Amino acid sequence: MKKITGIAIGLLALVTLAACGSSNDSGTDSSGSNNTSSEVTLDSIKKAGVLKVATSADFAPFEFHTMVDGKDQIVGADIDMVNAIADELGVKTQVSDMSFNTVLASVKEGKADIAVSGISATAERQKQFDFTDNYYNPPQVIIINKKNQDTLNSIAAFDGKQVGAQKGSTQEDIVKDQLSGAKLVSIDKVPSMIVELNQGSLDGMVVEQTIAESYVEQNSDLMIANVELKTDDDNAFSIALPKGSTELKDELNKIIAKLISEGKIDEYVKANNQVAESTEE
Ligand code: ARG
Repeated sequence: MKKITGIAIGLLALVTLAACGSSNDSGTDSSGSNNTSSEVTLDSIKKAGVLKVATSADFAPFEFHTMVDGKDQIVGADIDMVNAIADELGVKTQVSDMSFNTVLASVKEGKADIAVSGISATAERQKQFDFTDNYYNPPQVIIINKKNQDTLNSIAAFDGKQVGAQKGSTQEDIVKDQLSGAKLVSIDKVPSMIVELNQGSLDGMVVEQTIAESYVEQNSDLMIANVELKTDDDNAFSIALPKGSTELKDELNKIIAKLISEGKIDEYVKANNQVAESTEE
């Protein structure tokens, strides 16, 4: 960006002006119809009767697949939270499953109203999206194969090792910043990383502790490494909304505060850990 020439900047300014002009022309009414802005309103959701949610269901106990009465279903603590929110709003939930890599984009493109996927509200993402208050903040850990427990026990031990992180996740940055000697392997889905750890093509993978515990519980050859990673507030989970959805955000914050104060989020995590344990991967 810094290399843009004077001419390019001039051009950019023109285009920006033109864009402002046209969006002002078509976006002045408050009816919501033909609205070119991507913001979501409480009203539009209530009118539609559904809350459209984007998620990446590969992240037990927050969102994952399980069989319920012989049918594949997406369940998890995030899904329970979203259902509680939809109940409060008096609407139904419609969950779309996709790669984590495209979850935020789908909100931006208006395909979903909100993204709920254990999403960390980083400063970088806050430039492009609105985020609710945080509802969960687990520490970051490294999962390894038990057979390497005596060697992979320090940050330096991961130098030259293959360490997985989900594509598009904050864990990619954690590997780059905190395990700078390791080789980052970006992988689309969390369960695929678990398979690679079991097979030995990955030496480690970085993920949040609550998620790590769930997958380690289901994979007896894996364990959480005895290595401490830094966690900050940037990593805490929030719901993402299109930029400018202030009214909806305020409403969601009220509901989230209530759920937290009633201990519901922890309850959802506990209950879904049990579901994940009994789920055959
Ligand atoms: N908290 C991390 C992030 O926001 C990882 C989230 C991954 N979520 C998922 N459902 N796979 O980048």
